[in-house]
Amino acid sequence: MVIGNGMLNQTNTFLFEKIHTVIYSSAEILSKTIAAEIADIITEKQSRGEKTVLGLATGSTPKEIYKELIRMYREEGLSFKNVVCFNLDEYYALPANACQSYRQYMKENLFNHVDVDMSLCFIPATDIIQQDVKKHCEAYEEKIAAFGGLDFQLLGIGRNGHIGFNEPGSHINSVTRLITLDFTTRSDAACEFGTKSNVPRKAITMGVATIMKAKRIVLVAMGERKAEIVKKAVEGPVTEFIPASYLQGHNNTTFVLDNSAAAALTRIKTPWLTDDVNWDVKTIKKAVTHLAITLNKPILKLTANDYNENGLSDLLALYKQVHDLNIDVFNQLQQTITGWPGGKPGADDTNRPERAWPEKKRVLIFSPHPDDDIISMGGTFQRLVDQGHEVHVAYQTSGNIAVADDEAFRFAEFVYDFNNQFAIKSPEAENIFSEALEFLKTKENGKKDIQSLRYIKGLIRKGEAKSTCRFVGVHTDNIHFLNLPFYETGTIEKKPIGEEDYRIIANCIESIKPHQIYAAGDLADPHGTHKVCLDGIFEAIHRLKYNDFMKDCRVWLYKGAWAEWDIDLIEMAVPMSPDQVLKKRYGIFKHQSQKDGVVFQGADSREFWQRAEDRNRETACLYNKLGLAEYEAMEAFVRWHFA
Ligand code: F6R
Repeated sequence: MVIGNGMLNQTNTFLFEKIHTVIYSSAEILSKTIAAEIADIITEKQSRGEKTVLGLATGSTPKEIYKELIRMYREEGLSFKNVVCFNLDEYYALPANACQSYRQYMKENLFNHVDVDMSLCFIPATDIIQQDVKKHCEAYEEKIAAFGGLDFQLLGIGRNGHIGFNEPGSHINSVTRLITLDFTTRSDAACEFGTKSNVPRKAITMGVATIMKAKRIVLVAMGERKAEIVKKAVEGPVTEFIPASYLQGHNNTTFVLDNSAAAALTRIKTPWLTDDVNWDVKTIKKAVTHLAITLNKPILKLTANDYNENGLSDLLALYKQVHDLNIDVFNQLQQTITGWPGGKPGADDTNRPERAWPEKKRVLIFSPHPDDDIISMGGTFQRLVDQGHEVHVAYQTSGNIAVADDEAFRFAEFVYDFNNQFAIKSPEAENIFSEALEFLKTKENGKKDIQSLRYIKGLIRKGEAKSTCRFVGVHTDNIHFLNLPFYETGTIEKKPIGEEDYRIIANCIESIKPHQIYAAGDLADPHGTHKVCLDGIFEAIHRLKYNDFMKDCRVWLYKGAWAEWDIDLIEMAVPMSPDQVLKKRYGIFKHQSQKDGVVFQGADSREFWQRAEDRNRETACLYNKLGLAEYEAMEAFVRWHFA
């Protein structure tokens, strides 16, 4: 039997790709398709009285797949009675009941919700003494073999290209073993453990050879932050430095990607190199800017040879002369630059990003966390205020989980001491603060905050956001704290966005009736708060779009702290002078709880203001390299059309 002949098994015809790769535009359909393939294997083998041996992964990526399997168990009678599960890996030397252990993860995300026989669910041990590790790993290998090998192995991919915890340098013949986790892996896991220093240094993982023996392998990757490594694994050479590239040698592997994770593949990034392209305004702009960037030339200096030698002769053929093509794209880029993000009063706006009328606009900036407004669009925010628009800011979530405990302790203690000093007696306040202080004194690493502590942390961030607004000049009445309920779990794991969240966002829009909405269009992490907040705005706008005021409303998307829009996508670029850059920096400084080593630092050790400045300078530099005017920095936006 050929395992895995579901929807994913199409013939791959794309140049450069050495692994069968399928792209889905929706994370939901992607997860359902993979779950359906797993379910098919289970039922097929069950009908023959055989057991199915699954290799399972943890991490953020497979969660939706497990949810769908649980749904199929509940609603469609899918049974796991004949299923044997082997997990890829487990942290070493972590209490088995620690909330970060993969045992707990598997129980919470799958095992506790289906009829799987727990005696057939295997996960490498976490608490085994060093001398016994080798024996334990050999036994793990033998057990997999004794059940006839893995029928289906589900994989994620680390940003360093790891599969399981086979870090760069892992040999193709490696088997289950103890491994030292590398810097990227530990940084990526830091948010689950509070800080990076709490992340275990070692893990036990199935080896590359163990994985490669599986009859069918599906690797799932979602989100922009996986795009570069996916390209290397799929299109690059097989190398120990990118363990996922070993999968090129497996004859039944599929990479399943969402649009963001697929973004760097040649067929997406430079489609003219893999296929015939229907040239339209967007693809022409993409091709010409890409060519100029690759050749490190200003657009107006590109020659016919440059086009012909780089797979773009058919594009050139659409134009009489190379100059016509160059000037066409140059003008488009030029027209994206404006110092008037709210529209230039009285100007001819035919080729401007924003309309001139009405001169004074009502502007609503949505900020997923309390600092995204200033970090991601601080310069534009300031201009909108300075140019006299009625600017509102809506902070979508409290951002309370990103405040460090010692910061909260300091504030709680301040209030407590202040009250005592002046004999201010408020039993309610006293309770909140003494409870939070008591909890903090004995809090264990990674433990979920109690409600009163979350309240204090939320207040800290609220104060910082208000301080930024004061600094920029936003009227107090125009600051809105939405405290969306989906966020309020006290953990990184959030509730699904729901009706109450949509209602709050829609009410906010309806009460302001904005001419412009700015929102974080940051899709870097498909499970992250920015994406959920954006989905909430999209849904609210869909519900409101038939109202008259929405016909006069434009939506502009900015990116979060991590990445910038590709230059060909940018529809409005707002330049900043050196003074404006500095002012933005001071605005970001108001968020003191997010300075000097933050809770969610990630692998990038720069502070938020540094990331923002570097990025804004890079955008300006790119425009300049393409032959446009030289600015100190630029913020960039893409328009979202909802009609
Ligand atoms: C998990 C595992 C890892 C993850 C990878 C991606 O069992 O072995 O290889 O699959 O680190 O993690 P996420 O999905 O969280 O990005």
